[in-house]
Amino acid sequence: MHLKPIKMAVGHRPLCLQSFPVLFWTCSLLLLGCGCVPMQRDMAKEVASYTDVANQIIKLVLSGSAQKRSYERLSNFTDAIGNRVSGSHNLELAIAYMYNAMSQDGLDVHLEPVKVPHWVRGEEGAEMVLPRPKTLAMLGLGSSVGTPPEGIEAEVVVVSSFEDLKSRGANVSGRIVVFNQPFVSYGETVAYRAFGASEAAKLGAVAALIRSVTPVSINSPHTGVQDYQEGVRRIPAACITVEDAQLMARMAARGQRVVVRLNMGAKTLPDADSFNTVAEIRGWQHPEQVVVLSGHLDSWDVGQGAMDDGGGAIISWEALSVIKDLGLRPRRTLRAVLWTAEEQGGVGAQQYYQRHKANISNFDLVMESDLGTFAPVALQFTGSPAAQKVMQEVVQLLAPLNTTRLEPHGEGTDIGPWMQAGVPGASLHVEDDRYFWFHHSEGDTMSVQSPGAMDRCSALWAVVAYVVADLQDMLPR
Ligand SMILES: *[C@@H]1O[C@H](CO)[C@@H](O)[C@H](O)[C@H]1NC(C)=O
Ligand SMILES: *[C@@H]1O[C@H](CO)[C@@H](O)[C@H](O)[C@H]1NC(C)=O
Ligand SMILES: *[C@@H]1O[C@H](CO)[C@@H](O)[C@H](O)[C@H]1NC(C)=O
Ligand SMILES: *[C@@H]1O[C@H](CO)[C@@H](O)[C@H](O)[C@H]1NC(C)=O
Ligand SMILES: [Zn+2]
Repeated sequence: MHLKPIKMAVGHRPLCLQSFPVLFWTCSLLLLGCGCVPMQRDMAKEVASYTDVANQIIKLVLSGSAQKRSYERLSNFTDAIGNRVSGSHNLELAIAYMYNAMSQDGLDVHLEPVKVPHWVRGEEGAEMVLPRPKTLAMLGLGSSVGTPPEGIEAEVVVVSSFEDLKSRGANVSGRIVVFNQPFVSYGETVAYRAFGASEAAKLGAVAALIRSVTPVSINSPHTGVQDYQEGVRRIPAACITVEDAQLMARMAARGQRVVVRLNMGAKTLPDADSFNTVAEIRGWQHPEQVVVLSGHLDSWDVGQGAMDDGGGAIISWEALSVIKDLGLRPRRTLRAVLWTAEEQGGVGAQQYYQRHKANISNFDLVMESDLGTFAPVALQFTGSPAAQKVMQEVVQLLAPLNTTRLEPHGEGTDIGPWMQAGVPGASLHVEDDRYFWFHHSEGDTMSVQSPGAMDRCSALWAVVAYVVADLQDMLPR
């Protein structure tokens, strides 16, 4: 048996015994005496006492007055504002929109200032000049420098990996490197987008064109942030489509001379002022203790930023709305945080962590949704074995959503700092197999979202957050 006893908190009262203090103490001594199994049953019982309220939440969202509201809120928002990259006027509009909308919804809303990167794309374009003229669909990568005004025209060297690049040695100098790496997984393949430019520059390349990090393409370029290595010359970096990367690879393999002209007006301006947008339902008993629900409000400057991550931001708001609509108020504070500048490397979330880490002992659970708001399949969770046991019970309340699975490893850029410091973290696992088809491209629009799937995400989010925020004890660390 691997069961470890859940630590008995002084004053913890099993729900069933709240009004019988004498019996409570007697019972506690008995429980302490007989170890982990009765304590577990106790916790299971406390969580199970939320079955009715969980069912009410789920009903309100799936078939009651909140039905389709998540989708409508997201479409109203993204249709009105469009995409909203860090530092842009659109991002300011988005923050003002959400501040007003959540205030009008009756939540306690405030803004917390953040300094964010301000990269602008400018005019850009690429064409293959030889062996025949062809326009290349492309998107410059975030943080890239631009080309000189007249552009860069150079012969291309096509490589399939970093090893392949190194094996070309002196032949890379003065060339544009085209990375035609296969898609393995986002986590693995994104290294080419992140580090391709500096690796190519070390061998004297003049620009880097990176095959978009996606398993499927209909000639879609997918942008994202890239990182220049300290002390390495900064060369322009852009993504091109899977189709064009493969085309140039076939041409080069035939021994044809491939020449590309690249123009990029990209530049980085001084850091801009932005905000994390925070909405709360204050806890009635322990207002200083918080459960954080979150998604990021910024996006890339293409598409509508609907699934990345308008959806995560909206369900975090919606979860609070639903709880408020039912007249519920948990013991602890529910706090929806709509992060800014996640796409630039979790910038808003890092500044939030620095500002609030002194109160880390009051952070009960941090939740993040940033892999799309498609049909939910499970809750991912990182926490101690004792916390896992509590969450294992909490997800049983999601039976009407068919999502009673608890998976290891909560994840998310924006909750990362808290989780690394030991705060339990949860993330939403959805049917995300199509997520990277649209990610960071013009394809990330409302057309990939569906009202029913979003309702299920919101209901799951609301039940988990409410129950954890209302349990007698914080999750054990
Ligand atoms: C979406 O916008 C319409 C038109 O402004 C408004 O009537 C509707 O209430 C909004 N929907 C939600 C869920 O806020
Ligand atoms: C460099 O290019 C030349 C001419 O195309 C070719 O013969 C040679 O094999 C290349 N060297 C490497 C290391 O790829
Ligand atoms: C920390 O918590 C205390 C008590 O709730 C609160 O007054 C204070 O503002 C918090 N500080 C920060 C930085 O969040
Ligand atoms: C859960 O699964 C059952 C049985 O397949 C199905 O009838 C029901 O509609 C599902 N519920 C949701 C919310 O998807
Ligand atoms: Zn995202």
